[in-house]
Amino acid sequence: MGITTDGLWLTGANAHAAFLSGSLDALREAVIVSEHGKPCLYTRAGNELSKITSIDVIFPVLHGTFGEDGTIQGLFEIQNCAYVGAGVLGSSVAMDKAVCKHVMESIHLPVLEYAVFTRSEIKNNLAQTIEEAEKVAPYPLFVKPANLGSSVGINKTRNREELAAALREAARFDRRILVERGILAREIEISVLGNTDVTCTVPGEIIPGDEFYTYKDKYESGDPEVAIPAPLSEAQTLLLQRHAIEAYKAIDGAGLARVDFLIDKNSGEAYFNEINTMPGFTQISMYPKLWLYSGLSYPELVNRLVELALERKAEQDETVRKYEE
Ligand SMILES: Nc1ncnc2c1ncn2[C@@H]1O[C@H](COP(=O)(O)OP(=O)(O)O)[C@@H](O)[C@H]1O
Ligand SMILES: [Mg+2]
Repeated sequence: MGITTDGLWLTGANAHAAFLSGSLDALREAVIVSEHGKPCLYTRAGNELSKITSIDVIFPVLHGTFGEDGTIQGLFEIQNCAYVGAGVLGSSVAMDKAVCKHVMESIHLPVLEYAVFTRSEIKNNLAQTIEEAEKVAPYPLFVKPANLGSSVGINKTRNREELAAALREAARFDRRILVERGILAREIEISVLGNTDVTCTVPGEIIPGDEFYTYKDKYESGDPEVAIPAPLSEAQTLLLQRHAIEAYKAIDGAGLARVDFLIDKNSGEAYFNEINTMPGFTQISMYPKLWLYSGLSYPELVNRLVELALERKAEQDETVRKYEE
């Protein structure tokens, strides 16, 4: 099943190829209908519904807004579907860089100094917003929309003019904007897998081609340079692995997540940066590559994720939802 940028769900033979080529005419609109509590996939033509199959598990291979932020997960919950990955809460907390940082601070993970501003503060009182933002740290300052990803709307600013422009740009993409101390960073990522029993891989390192890990670098410049395992001391490896699992548990992670850290190239200090509940998952992506290094092949990893989705659903079904005295 594919989803168009307008939000239309389409299915049919060779749906993936059809989406890639953009010729969607042969596909049919897809809807999920609950039959006696069992989710089923139907196609719709006008008012006619035709059943295709019952649904065992959904693997929402989606990034970003509506896909990774808990909204579609909420739909699956209501439809009683088992699905791969974190639930509503974990997805939405991980998606929001501001709330996520609050949570990580509360479990004492180191994060880079930051402040959160609103779109209306930026629109209506830019001068004061800049003054407050400059209190976060000396330049460079990173400006980020709270809820996005793929480095969209993120800018490194070196002075007040750049900060003002970056705040305005970030405010186009979200109502809440983070300003963060900028460092010269090494980018370290750890893959996490599991529901209640959680395991993780060795840390991997991404060596960005740009000044930082930009959209262009992520999607347009070909394969990024990676090091698996990341060259770190054993103590730092163990610390980051512990932090990755703590972060995962703190957001009520399930299935999978990739936890990203930044290491200051000057001081060597490591900081939690973000947690992605639906990380890049192509053959060349860090998440499966790290598991491959740990001896779990891509097909085995996908199998395990489906099993974890079913286990989580079974566990949730144990929850008492009717209370009678
Ligand atoms: N405070 C920072 N200091 C230095 N580099 C940063 C900082 N924040 C982000 N970056 C760079 O920007 C990239 C994207 O930021 P990130 O917070 O990971 O957002 P996204 O969700 O878009 O991946 C990071 O991978 C890193 O290269
Ligand atoms: Mg990132």
